[in-house]
This record gives sequence, C-alpha cells and structure tokens, in this order.
Amino acid sequence: MPTIVVDGQTLTVPEGATVLQAIRQAGVHLPTLCYWEGLPPYGACRLCLVDVVSPKPDTIAACAYPAAEGMVIETQGPRATAVRKIVLEFLLARCPTWNVIRAMAAEAGVTETRFPASTKADELCVLCGLCVRICRDAVGAAAIGFIGRGPERQVGPPFHLQAEACIGCGACAAVCPTDAVKIEDVDGQRILHTWNTRVPLEPCPSCGQPYAPEPMAFLREHVEASQHLWGLCPACRRKAAAAQLEVIREATFHALR
Ligand code: FES
Repeated sequence: MPTIVVDGQTLTVPEGATVLQAIRQAGVHLPTLCYWEGLPPYGACRLCLVDVVSPKPDTIAACAYPAAEGMVIETQGPRATAVRKIVLEFLLARCPTWNVIRAMAAEAGVTETRFPASTKADELCVLCGLCVRICRDAVGAAAIGFIGRGPERQVGPPFHLQAEACIGCGACAAVCPTDAVKIEDVDGQRILHTWNTRVPLEPCPSCGQPYAPEPMAFLREHVEASQHLWGLCPACRRKAAAAQLEVIREATFHALR
C-alpha cells in the first residue's frame, strides 16, 4: 500500500487508489465536477488539478492519476491553482447564473471572468460528461452523447429527437452535478425534458399509480430474490416488505416460546 504526502499530511492509501481518493482520505477539500465514484475517471473538468512536488514535479488531474509510493502532493500548489482559476473563469462564462459554480469560483478567489458569456443565459450544463458516461457505461443504453464541437458542444440524443434507446431510469439526472437534466412524471409518462424524450410508465398493480418506466420491465427477470415485490411502486413495496417482516417476526416469536 503506497504512502504519500498530501499537503504535509503523510498517509497510507489502498493499492490502486487515485490521488483524488488519497486527498479525500486526508480530509482535504478539492472541488470536482466530472468525478463520480461508480465510473472510471474521465479527467474532463480539470478542477481537481494538483501539483506533484516529488518525485517528478508536474501538474496532474488527481481523479485520473494513481497514487504511487513517495508522492508529495500540494492541492494548492501555484501551477494547479493558476490553471484551476482559469477553468473556473471558463465555467463562470458558460454558466453565469449557477450558484454552485459561483460559490466554487469565489472559494478560489475568482469573482469575474475575462471570457465571453454564454449566449444561453440559463445554461447549466458544464459538459462534465457524467450523464453520457452513466447512460453508456453503467446503464448500457447509450441514449445520449456529445453533439458538436467547441462553443457549440452540447449533450443530447441523436438529432435532438426522442432518444429511442432511453429506458427512463433517470440515472442521468441523478449524477448531474448541476441539476441540468430535467425529468418529471406526468399523466402516465416520464418526460425527460432535456432529452426531448418521453417514456411510458406502467401502473402499480396494487394502487394503480403510474411509476415504472416500461422499458425497465426487463429488470424483473433479473431480480429473482424480490420477484414478489417487483411489480409494486415504492410505497406499496415498502408496505409489502413491512407486512412480510411482521409475518417473519411473529413466526420467530412463536418458535422461541
Ligand atoms: S474531477 Fe478530475 S478532471 Fe474532473
């Protein structure tokens, strides 16, 4: 297990840990936008830049760099801090109204940007790619992707039309760090506003409330252990599980008497 130094603090980290994981283990705050524990590192946002002081001076993206024996890391080193400030200026120009970016920038001493503001005043997407990656790498649907280049780059379904591969799971919204993905369930449909996509919802057989995206029905075959609960909405599932627990509790109580 490698021993490294983070901001003067010596610590031993698990084999295979990244520098970012070591930094978090050390309890040091470092902003990130494109990092999500369940996905391989991507290195897109460049907010996690840190300076390597030793063994070979360098500036690296901590989320994508393996922690190695003897490394000395400075999270507030001069090179990393300077680049992070420029990245935050870019983000401020792209998402001028988003409070979290403004707070991140202010924390780094950035309150203004030299770059031209986005033409879309309410832009929230920072192009971190988390929604694209979770949909492709974890869900396996690949319903959305990057479109265009440079300032025109954005995320969406092919041709901005109904994403036929979307299963309506909502993982894209769950991982988005900026709440840029808007989803709501209305009139028996899950509407993924950001992707121009609608997915029909199946009603709960117990209460009749539409709740489960139809394309996700295949999951029932894969979750055998809870087959008896699968057709139910979360509220009815909780009730059924509680009733089942009560039956087990009663049976155990009588068996012990
Ligand atoms: S968190 Fe490392 S580059 Fe985004």
